[in-house]
Amino acid sequence: MQRKIAVVGTGYVGLTTGACLARLGHHVVCADIDTEKVARLRAGQVDILEPGLADLVKRGLADGNLEFVVGAANAVAADTEVLFLCVPTPMGADGAADLRAVESVLAEVRGILPAGCAVATKSTVPVGTADRLQYMVDVPIVSNPEFLREGSAVGDFLNPDRIVVGSADRAAAQKVGDLYSALEAPTLVLDAPSAEMVKYAANCFLAVKLSYVNAIAQLCDRVGADVQAVTEGMGYDPRIGRSFLKPGPGWGGSCLPKDTTALMHVADSVGLDFGLLRSAIEQNAHQQADVLDRIRQACDGTVRGARIGVLGLAFKAGTNDLRDSPAIRIAEALIGEGAEVTAHDPAITGEMPGMRLVDDPYEAVKGAIAVVVLTEWPEFRTLDWTKVAELMDGFTVVDTRNLLDGDELAHAGLTWQAIGRPVESPGHRLR
Ligand code: UDX
Repeated sequence: MQRKIAVVGTGYVGLTTGACLARLGHHVVCADIDTEKVARLRAGQVDILEPGLADLVKRGLADGNLEFVVGAANAVAADTEVLFLCVPTPMGADGAADLRAVESVLAEVRGILPAGCAVATKSTVPVGTADRLQYMVDVPIVSNPEFLREGSAVGDFLNPDRIVVGSADRAAAQKVGDLYSALEAPTLVLDAPSAEMVKYAANCFLAVKLSYVNAIAQLCDRVGADVQAVTEGMGYDPRIGRSFLKPGPGWGGSCLPKDTTALMHVADSVGLDFGLLRSAIEQNAHQQADVLDRIRQACDGTVRGARIGVLGLAFKAGTNDLRDSPAIRIAEALIGEGAEVTAHDPAITGEMPGMRLVDDPYEAVKGAIAVVVLTEWPEFRTLDWTKVAELMDGFTVVDTRNLLDGDELAHAGLTWQAIGRPVESPGHRLR
């Protein structure tokens, strides 16, 4: 059954939610405060690199069941049944989520929300927020966390593992859950704090899992084991699973760093010492420091004045998102230590402070003492590594994603420095 929906905020989550709910047959009005962005969306222009999203937006516009307006109040009509809050909840100075955007939207719509409407929070909000914000509006607040991965957000939305809704008002939670009835997914109708907690508990678990794997990779390096083989062996155990076992330059992106810090803050605020999570966050900082060490070593101890080729800036392949990207942090640290960084990322163009950004990966490696792979773009795998070796001044490739074929690099006369994998150093022998 078609429902009348308002979505406030047209970032990754809001736009994906709006376009996908329209795809499910609902009538959706999306609001944003950015007038120019709304104008672009009305023309079918999507700024976010997210497979399938632009097509869904164009389709919704053509079918007439997806609209874009400026300002939350303009998205609300007398027959609006659910209003989704998809505005940013960034990390505040004290590590707690900053709820000012959520509160300002509620203040804007509180007088005009029709009776019987529900407000659903999609933004990740601290546990207890739905109940805490309830005083601001007369209609029920429902927590409906999203579990979308960037780069596959549309696919994840339309093929969810589960739908989670939670509210003190069970009927309102059920009503939000029913919006997804066309999708085949288990629906959990919970109280609001539990629904909010599912999201944090899941994301922080993923962060802990990755920090664990990154630490295992460090250990593999020191004992001469191969982390790829080790994680393959672990992955056969269905309790562990195969996914999220790849070591890297540390986890990043718009969710895991923010959510781990926020949950730490929640634990602190109730007097719980969540040492496990703190260690996972600390390990992530060590992981980045370790990558920097490897790059220094590849440059004979210091990167000062060294030309370094950086391949990949986005926090993971398939996106153009630089938020909390470990690649950016590492590049910035190198620049801070006096390195000359030339970077290439297939999804990033324009200016990047302190570095030279180039469209051609071969341009990025030209004259480099060391090359660092920081994002797992598949096209880096198929570079002509013999050509790279000829263009470079040094011979070490620090592959923080364990993406490349070590044999191929060795054949090209390069030293392949992967994470947690045995290193062969033919570069030293061949040159
Ligand atoms: C994440 C969660 O997966 C999603 O459910 C949640 O709703 C939002 O946060 P996303 O931030 O898009 O999604 O990225 P994800 O694919 O989970 O990767 C997170 C980080 O972990 C990235 O920096 C990625 O490079 C890293 N990662 C992931 C690894 O280093 N190794 C892996 O095996 C997987």
